[in-house]
Amino acid sequence: MEFTVPQCWQDLELVEKAGIDRVILYGPPGTGKTHAALHRGSSWVERLICTEDLTAGEVTGAWIPVGDGKWSWQDGPALRAWRRGGRLVVDEVDRASGDVLSLLLAMTDTDGSAEWHHPTTGEVVRPARGFNVVMTTNLEFLAELPDALIDRFPVAIRIDQPHPSGVLHLSPDLRAAAMSGSLPEAPRRVSLRMFTAFDRLRSTMDARQAAEILMGETNAESFLDSLKISTVGL
Ligand SMILES: Nc1ncnc2c1ncn2[C@@H]1O[C@H](COP(=O)(O)OP(=O)(O)OP(=O)(O)O)[C@@H](O)[C@H]1O
Ligand SMILES: [Mg+2]
Repeated sequence: MEFTVPQCWQDLELVEKAGIDRVILYGPPGTGKTHAALHRGSSWVERLICTEDLTAGEVTGAWIPVGDGKWSWQDGPALRAWRRGGRLVVDEVDRASGDVLSLLLAMTDTDGSAEWHHPTTGEVVRPARGFNVVMTTNLEFLAELPDALIDRFPVAIRIDQPHPSGVLHLSPDLRAAAMSGSLPEAPRRVSLRMFTAFDRLRSTMDARQAAEILMGETNAESFLDSLKISTVGL
């Protein structure tokens, strides 16, 4: 069975073709935002996973001890992506601390305005041609991110369904359900990760038992009912 490519992925393809180099992918968990950011369209990819503990040094770089009392400067992912003209993936951007968010304003600024000064050597770095940024977040309201950061990203696409290529590893009877995510009887969205785990567990045990392990007795019941509905006609 072939699935039509959902609108959100069609939109992303158009945006990529147009050469837009600042994109936010947002929306529910497990739909393939990070996968797309890492694997679509850029050969050199640097990834930042934002947590509140991520430091500015882990974004642009830091001096690190190399023994014998010596220190050496090591570029961070953002600066490496600048130098290579590659892609910077800023994963889970909403989790970044205020300091890192401020730094991201500088590191994602429009080419032409972006400039980084080495703290000790005075070296000036500008993003090489081709530098692009994809940020991901589960936020539904992007207005929760700083205005100036949003302004640097003219395109934000809500990824609400997996890409058809993301369900191919599943057993055929699960693919349609995994594509839609919101199952008719299921109390909540069932993500691609959950389907993958269900498929794996189901290969070694009864389907009911697999569903119960993953989502508890009550949810398992409605999940299995939903699956039955989604496989009608297969
Ligand atoms: N097109 C695809 N091809 C192969 N695997 C995929 C594809 N899309 C998603 N996956 C797999 O599905 C899982 C969930 O995808 P991913 O981590 O990209 O989701 P996400 O939208 O970033 O979720 P979250 O918001 O929770 O971070 C991962 O294991 C990923 O490798
Ligand atoms: Mg992700």
